[in-house]
Amino acid sequence: MNVLVTGGAGYIGSHTCVELLNSGYGVVVIDNLCNSNPESLNRVQKLTGKSLTFYEGDVRDEALLRRIFAENEIGCVIHFAGLKAVGESVSIPWKYYDNNLNSTLVLTKVMEEAGVKDIIFSSSATVYTADNEMPLRETSRTGNCTNPYGWTKYMTEQILSGMAFADKAWGIVLLRYFNPIGAHESGEIGEDPRGIPNNLMPYITQVAIGRREFLSIYGNDYDTHDGTGVRDYIHVVDLAKGHVAAVKYVENHKGCEVFNLGTGIGYSVLDMVKAFNEANGLNLPYKIVDRRPGDIATCYADPAKSVEVLGWKAEKNLMDMCRDSWNWQSKNPKGFA
Ligand code: NAD
Ligand code: UD1
Repeated sequence: MNVLVTGGAGYIGSHTCVELLNSGYGVVVIDNLCNSNPESLNRVQKLTGKSLTFYEGDVRDEALLRRIFAENEIGCVIHFAGLKAVGESVSIPWKYYDNNLNSTLVLTKVMEEAGVKDIIFSSSATVYTADNEMPLRETSRTGNCTNPYGWTKYMTEQILSGMAFADKAWGIVLLRYFNPIGAHESGEIGEDPRGIPNNLMPYITQVAIGRREFLSIYGNDYDTHDGTGVRDYIHVVDLAKGHVAAVKYVENHKGCEVFNLGTGIGYSVLDMVKAFNEANGLNLPYKIVDRRPGDIATCYADPAKSVEVLGWKAEKNLMDMCRDSWNWQSKNPKGFA
C-alpha cells in the first residue's frame, strides 16, 4: 500500500518515511520545503535502499493534490505538514491558521473525492489544558490553548473528529506527540531547525557544536524535583514507529481515535543536561535565567492506550536520545546545508 506523507521532508516526516519504507509501504511525499531541505529525502532513500516519490508543492494546492491522487494509488495519508513555532504563531497568527487549517481542509476534500478516507494527524500534547493532573491521558481536559499554534492543533482535532462522526467510512487517528528529540542512529537524518532553536535539544546540540555560547535554562523555581521544567522526551524513531502502528490500525478500524505518543517518563532540564554530558563525554555550559512565559512546570504522558490498542511502546531511553541527537549534529554541523 502507498502512504501519502505530507510534510515528509521535515524532522518527524523523514524519520517516518524510513520506517514506512522499511515496513514495506510505498511512500509518496508532498512538501513545499518551507521548513526543510530535500536532501533529507535523498538520505531517506540512501538509508533504506528504496525509492520514494516526491512532489514539491503546497498541501493547500488543490489541483496538485488531485494530480497526486490520480498518479498514485494512495491507501492512507499521514498529515505532518504544518507550521510549528509557538512564538512565531503569536506574531503571525493568520499564517498559522491559514497554513495549518486550510491544508487539512483541502487535503480531506481531495481525499474524499478520491475515496481515500484513512488519515493520521500530527497533533500535540499542547492541546491539553495546563490545569490537568499528570500523567496526561487521552481523556484529560483539552482546549484553553495559549497560542495560535496550539489552537490550530485543537481545531484540526475538532474538524477531523466531526468528519468521522458524520461519515462512518473515515478512519482517523489523532496522535498527540510529547517532546520528540533524537535522530536516526545512522546520523544521516535529524532535526535541522532554521534560525535560533526554540526547543531544548536542538539548542543543547548547537551549544555543544559551538554555534551558541551557552544554554539558558528557563527557571529553576518550578515545583519539580530540581526546580527546572519536566517534560516527556521521546526518541523520534520511536515516534516514527508509532505512525506505522497507526497506519496498520486505521486499515482495520474506522471512526476517530486519539493516542498519546510519549514514554510516560518525565525528565527535568537539568536531568537532560546531565544525561547529554554523560552520553557524549561533554560538559555543556549553561546559565539559569528567568522562566519562559507560557511554560508549565510538568508535562508527561500516560501511554497505556497506545500500548494496549496500537501495540506500540517507546523502546529507546534517554541515553539513546542524547547520543543520537549529538551523533546527528556532530556529523552535520550545519544540518542539511
Ligand atoms: P517540520 O517543520 O520539520 O516538518 C513539517 C514539514 O511540513 C516541513 O518539511 C515543511 O516544509 C512542511 N510544510 C509546512 N507547511 C506546508 C504546506 N502548507 N504544504 C506542504 N508542506 C508544508 O516539523 P516536525 O517537527 O517534523 O513536525 C511535523 C508535525 O508534527 C507538525 O504538524 C508539527 O506541528 C507536529 N508536532 C511536532 C512536534 C515537535 O516537537 N517537533 C510536537 C508536536 C507536534
Ligand atoms: C514546546 C512548545 C509546545 C510543543 C512542544 C513539543 C513552547 C512554548 N511550547 O514545548 O507547544 O508542543 O514544544 O514540540 O514552545 N528550555 C530551556 N532552555 C531552552 C529551551 C527550553 O530551559 O533554551 C526548557 C523549557 O523551559 C522546558 C523544556 O526545556 O521546560 C522543554 O522545552 P521545549 O523543548 O521548548 O518544549 P516544550 O516547552 O515542552
